Amino acid sequence: MCGIIACRTHRPASEYLRIGLRRLEYRGYDSVGVALQAVGGDVLRLRTIGRINSLETLLGQCAETEFTGAGIGHTRWATHGSVTEDNAHPHADCTGEISVVHNGIIENAASLRAELACAGHSFATPVDSEVLCHLIEDERLGGGDLVDAVHKALSRVQGSWAIAVLEEGTGRIAVAAKGSPLLVAHTDQGDFAASDIAAIADWIDEFRVLEDGDVVELTNTQRWCHAGVVVSPPMASRCDWRSEDVELHDYTDYMAKEIDEQPHVAARVLDGLIGGVANGRLWNDLGLPAFGRLQVIGCGTSLNAGNVIANLVRSLGALPVTTVVASEAAAQVPDPDQLCLAVSQSGETADVLRAMESSAVDGSYVLALTNNSHSTLARLADAVIECSAGPEIGVAASKTFVCQVISGSALMISALVAMNRLSAGAATRLVDDLRRVPDQLAAASTVARGAIPPIVDEFVDADGFIFIGRGSGLPYAAEGALKLKELTYRWAECCPAGELKHGPLALVGPGTPIVVVDSGEPKLACNVAEVASRGGRIVTLGPAGSSVPVVDNVSAPWGPIGATVPLQVLARSLALTLGRDVDKPRNLAKSVTVE
Ligand code: AGP
Repeated sequence: MCGIIACRTHRPASEYLRIGLRRLEYRGYDSVGVALQAVGGDVLRLRTIGRINSLETLLGQCAETEFTGAGIGHTRWATHGSVTEDNAHPHADCTGEISVVHNGIIENAASLRAELACAGHSFATPVDSEVLCHLIEDERLGGGDLVDAVHKALSRVQGSWAIAVLEEGTGRIAVAAKGSPLLVAHTDQGDFAASDIAAIADWIDEFRVLEDGDVVELTNTQRWCHAGVVVSPPMASRCDWRSEDVELHDYTDYMAKEIDEQPHVAARVLDGLIGGVANGRLWNDLGLPAFGRLQVIGCGTSLNAGNVIANLVRSLGALPVTTVVASEAAAQVPDPDQLCLAVSQSGETADVLRAMESSAVDGSYVLALTNNSHSTLARLADAVIECSAGPEIGVAASKTFVCQVISGSALMISALVAMNRLSAGAATRLVDDLRRVPDQLAAASTVARGAIPPIVDEFVDADGFIFIGRGSGLPYAAEGALKLKELTYRWAECCPAGELKHGPLALVGPGTPIVVVDSGEPKLACNVAEVASRGGRIVTLGPAGSSVPVVDNVSAPWGPIGATVPLQVLARSLALTLGRDVDKPRNLAKSVTVE
């Protein structure tokens, strides 16, 4: 989704913004723009609905202009206003003295717009973000200071924002945040701000994260204000994100690379956690109290991983567990004895963040399972467990799913030991099984490489797929269907196998592809027979004897994790055959920061 970068550097800002915006590409965007200060003070805005290469072309056309180190840039994923050059950020006020890039949503944009229009402001776009430019313009009338003007303008705004504001003439840049991530960094090359560390990781060693209500000026002294008062900057965090981690090397796409990385990252995650599982230390170190019920909250792939973890807690701990789609969490009734496990690779998913403010988690301790320990979710939670997958660039989640499953399972086994719901002996046997997961994933990868291509050839013209499973296999079937939809744009329905006969069976005719995730459930065979007798073309991912034999431990409480790899390979291979962009599926974004 939308991404922000801003800098005041010793060298021309364009040199940094063009690289930083490329680093934000993976989030998904439909337009891109920069505002750059030229030597002499004027600010030039360049925007395009093309890719970053088009912006490079626009920059190339300004080769005669000498730029200073002050600039702001943005990748936009449209929410308010269609995808046009005018609607792309940065936006400007009536005078052109203020340029703004914005992530988030201005909820009272309509009333502010009406008020500002009455006061004589003229608007160039229907985009909510433009309101911010005119509010700041108003507050600067009569020579108001930029930082004060930003603070005062924002005090009239309802909604969420991460913004960077560039002032013409001075080249001063103020940044501010509320409910949308933004971080700043001072380096010997200058000062940077970004909504995503990926944008500036090449140049920084450490960074500071803005709290809700902060306004900061990008200078070497970093004037840090909160609620209009100058405060000390927060503690700096080390940046361990390196651009070499996101190089493609010999791969053609990030999906392929990230699928292949899974055995290695799974082993790394286990190395970090395994010593604290059978003795309960992993759980005890979090300092959370015992719980009598688990509520798992997430969206998409993270919710599928949450369902795997939920099944494990039910089966090993005999504890009641509810799993909740984050956008529907507000309807939940909290239980005083519950732990809320919020699962989100980005830690910035708006639906999950709003769920944390809802009555669903009232009075509960919140444990965040995330791939971003600096995220808003991590900061909101009472405790954090990192899924440690490393940077994932493909918009469709792959290795983060596997790492969520592994780290969430390891932690919950540890919790059950600590709460005397599982014996240390049983946990030790599970630890031995967990240690085998990286090899199982590697073996599944080898099997998938041979078994999936003929299946893709056969299904290339199929316009709909049904994925089924039972018990611990069901979340994997759901994840397989989600991957297929995301990457191929073909319909894929996941259904508990026992539910088929209650409706979805009507979809099955001769040749309908039925992907079965077989976790050894005895009743699955009857359901498979039901679709076979209607002519469905069945592909089973399961133990030896399956069409894709990738599951060697049907009793693992984390389910048939080996099935993950062929499900991902099937989605990616079919998508490539259909000519899709597997790293940037249409309409989707990596970090979904709107509700
Ligand atoms: C996964 O392939 C999807 N892109 C999507 O479902 C994703 O899992 C969902 O938006 C949740 O994101 P999060 O894990 O960052 O919260």
